[in-house]
Amino acid sequence: MIQFILNHSLVQLDDFQADSTLLDFLRLHADLKGTKEGCASGDCGACTVVLASPDKAGKTLEYKSVNSCICLLGSVHGKQVITVEGLKTNRHSSLHPVQQAMVDQHASQCGFCTPGFVMSLFSMSKNKLPAIRSEVVENIDGNLCRCTGYRPIIDAGLDYLNQSVSDDFDDNTQKTITRLKAILTTKNKCFFIPQSIEALSQWLIENPEARLLAGGTDLGIDVTQGLQSLKKVIYLGQVNALKQMTEDHAFIRLGASITYTNCASRLAEEYPAFEVHLKRLGSTQIRNVGTIGGNIANASPIGDMPPVLMALDAVLVLQKGSSQREVNINDFYTGYKQTVLRKGEFLREILIPRKKAGCRLFIYKISKRHADDISAICAAFYIHVKRQKIMSIRIALGGMAATVQRAFNCEKTLLKQALTAESLSQAKSAILTDFDPLDDVRASREYRLQMAQNLLERLYIELGVSQ
Ligand code: FES
Ligand code: FES
Repeated sequence: MIQFILNHSLVQLDDFQADSTLLDFLRLHADLKGTKEGCASGDCGACTVVLASPDKAGKTLEYKSVNSCICLLGSVHGKQVITVEGLKTNRHSSLHPVQQAMVDQHASQCGFCTPGFVMSLFSMSKNKLPAIRSEVVENIDGNLCRCTGYRPIIDAGLDYLNQSVSDDFDDNTQKTITRLKAILTTKNKCFFIPQSIEALSQWLIENPEARLLAGGTDLGIDVTQGLQSLKKVIYLGQVNALKQMTEDHAFIRLGASITYTNCASRLAEEYPAFEVHLKRLGSTQIRNVGTIGGNIANASPIGDMPPVLMALDAVLVLQKGSSQREVNINDFYTGYKQTVLRKGEFLREILIPRKKAGCRLFIYKISKRHADDISAICAAFYIHVKRQKIMSIRIALGGMAATVQRAFNCEKTLLKQALTAESLSQAKSAILTDFDPLDDVRASREYRLQMAQNLLERLYIELGVSQ
């Protein structure tokens, strides 16, 4: 059984399938058709709804915009799901101020994208984000409009945020928290929602065939695009130990289920290159649920985090039952979508080494669209240069092989070399011997090899070497 608050009413589902999506539930069962289906893959934002849940202290609500098309229904247990229909509340019996702003600014034509934009803007206001153009643009990075154009939508967002009006959701915050806290978690046949590491470990040992669900930004697509059916799912989103971020002098320690949204600012503080990189990783909706652990464990060769974590020499803590082992991420991948994870074992924690004095991290992502797109190539360089000489360097690239991989030949060529046009030229030759990429829909083999060389050149330019 799962329970959640849908807009203002409690919903209880005694029976549901592990692979049911929230969008299907809304449109087909709850008859809430304001939420649209465009792509069914987390790319267009037409299906955006907002999830509210109590913050860590349990004192207020955190609001996250999410793509309901790839959100598995069981994962909203214990949350409030707010759809565009729910904006019509007592205080605003006709249009909510965000909807009125869209009307006033003529920000809708065919209207297909409009509920999604409305919910993204609503979420911004609930998170008290400032009424600044760049903030609005960033927060609608996961919403596509094919006919109105973005200028009136951005203006509507600014109008709405400038009004800073409270609504029924604000008035009812404490009541909603109390209602959500009263929801109990019970055992389901097909959708496990462990509340502790111990319960997770035990269920995974008893059900090694179950699929682990973190943010669902890949697993959801396996269902909607890959037409896979999931018989058993273990949802990791309610295990507090997996959502924590701590640190000591050696590492920033991230629980495997921490979302990008919840760790981006700390990572960018330590390594400024993360600032741009994480803004280009998916969209706001994806980053609100997507987890670093998921990005590592699904072992995609084009994941955006593994190249960076390899360059930083991160360590992964794996757990089975009550025993743990540490594996360097450079030893984690064994083949295409294959890892060293054993049956019943899961990724518990990611240890990211603290920044070393004199070292700099550079991350370059190449994709067809700037935002909300998957990498064709992603390169990370962690380099220490002293008096124009390379003292240490680690280079990792995604999209160049069946797994994300280090460029060992190139690293060897550059080590202890001066930053000169000659060493760049040697490095460009060496990197061609590190990889043997394939053609696919994102890029050709030739393009990938050329791009790997170009990114070395970009590194040199950013390090101040004139060509
Ligand atoms: Fe396009 Fe969900 S329908 S993101
Ligand atoms: Fe038609 Fe945006 S109004 S897609």
